[in-house]
Amino acid sequence: MGFWADIRAAKKLIKSRRRKRRAKRRALATVRELIVVDRPVKLELGSARKGKDSWTTVDLVAGCDICWDLTKGLPFPEGTIDAIYSSHFLEHIKYRDLIVLLEQCRQVLRPDGLFSACVPDAGVFLSAYFSGVDVSLDYEPARCGSKRIDCVNYIAYMDGHHKHLFDRENLCQILEDTGYRNVRLREFDEAMDMPERRHESIYVEARK
Ligand SMILES: C[S@@+](CC[C@H](N)C(=O)[O-])C[C@H]1O[C@@H](n2cnc3c(N)ncnc32)[C@H](O)[C@@H]1O
Repeated sequence: MGFWADIRAAKKLIKSRRRKRRAKRRALATVRELIVVDRPVKLELGSARKGKDSWTTVDLVAGCDICWDLTKGLPFPEGTIDAIYSSHFLEHIKYRDLIVLLEQCRQVLRPDGLFSACVPDAGVFLSAYFSGVDVSLDYEPARCGSKRIDCVNYIAYMDGHHKHLFDRENLCQILEDTGYRNVRLREFDEAMDMPERRHESIYVEARK
């Protein structure tokens, strides 16, 4: 019994490694195609499956254009990307990995390339805690308890998905610290941002 279970586990492991190698080859082939054509390259990081026209999506999940773990480096040569956007993704990355990722984003951007992001505003949830005013907690699996502190639990942990809290100050600071220029908070942009996230989000943009 133990022997056959070991064989099955080994087969599963080999299959999963093959799948990962195939996904990596596909991702790198897409990168090569993207950077040789003579048109602007715009990346959306942590996009999930959704895709905006003319944006190349990068995420862990199948169905995006480039399936890639963004804590393992960005598979683009330096100075080849025109714009990078992300929505509700940066808070999923541990602080140390986030610093590395933001530095890599800056490196792969062309001179004066745009970095634009939207993250949940932890300040909204902390205000709700102190004021007692309700804030909507849309993601059901992350809801827990009914006390005021549970809206802080919601945004801080998001059922285990969140690794970092942002407010207006530290969002700008982290971009300045990682070498971006002209860092500024921006307004909601209907061409890029999701309306359903507007009530709980802060928006920032910066230049390489
Ligand atoms: C909350 S979803 C945001 C999806 C979409 N951008 C939006 O605003 O609705 C966070 C996304 O980040 C992706 N993600 C988390 N960690 C990642 C990683 N290490 N590498 C690539 N994508 C990751 C998840 O797969 C997920 O699609």
